Amino acid sequence: MRRPLIAGNWKMNLDLARGRELIAEIRAGLDTGGVRDQVEVAVCPPAVYLFPLGEALKGSPIRLGAQDLHHETSGAFTGEVSAEMLAETGAKYVIIGHSERRHTIGHLEDDRMVNLKARAARRAGLTPILCLGETLGERNARQTLDVLTFQLTAGLVGTKLRDSSDLVIAYEPVWAIGTGQNATPQQAQEAHAHLRARLHTLAGIVADDIRILYGGSVKPENAGEIMMQPDVDGGLIGGASLKADSFVGIVRAALAKVG
Ligand code: PGA
Repeated sequence: MRRPLIAGNWKMNLDLARGRELIAEIRAGLDTGGVRDQVEVAVCPPAVYLFPLGEALKGSPIRLGAQDLHHETSGAFTGEVSAEMLAETGAKYVIIGHSERRHTIGHLEDDRMVNLKARAARRAGLTPILCLGETLGERNARQTLDVLTFQLTAGLVGTKLRDSSDLVIAYEPVWAIGTGQNATPQQAQEAHAHLRARLHTLAGIVADDIRILYGGSVKPENAGEIMMQPDVDGGLIGGASLKADSFVGIVRAALAKVG
């Protein structure tokens, strides 16, 4: 049985004081909601908050994650942060290849860059949360499954997977991120089942242990049905991760699957 993971992607939001408060509220919400170790919970704050919020998370089961990294260990890369530096903050996860980085920010990351970053994460002992997903144009052109196959294969070039700590996948249809328009549970399941089958071909039996998260406009109101899909193993949550009530509500929906 795969343990669901609910990870909050804070993006470039909140200040440090509010981040601390949110963590305290999430901790309280998980305690009163009876969430122990059945569901894994992580928060991914902006890089400058990783150290202080890592301190705030000490003694709690909530894991820390980063939102990006540079694939080199060190060097003349002004403004960048390496996987090894992230690992020093106590981070366990790092989001790689988020659609905002692929499509809207800075260098517009391609699959080769995403692959280098995922490998750098592994080198430093971090678990990459590898984000994949089709655009609306690709979905309308019925290319979704081909795009997912390509992104998964390219993202994992040169990677050997041994167990579930080596990789988390996040299926995030680009058209569903921050739009309020989530994939239907059936669309999510179809994509997740496809990704797991491809992962079997690429990596063998370990594919049964790798968690595939859904991301894109998840809220407590739609999380229940999405989380219940057999190949959905949790969520990568943007907007709804910025409020303790909604984030914990989504964790509870995942708990209902396994609890
Ligand atoms: P959203 O973002 O939940 O606000 O749609 C998800 C993500 O970008 O990971």
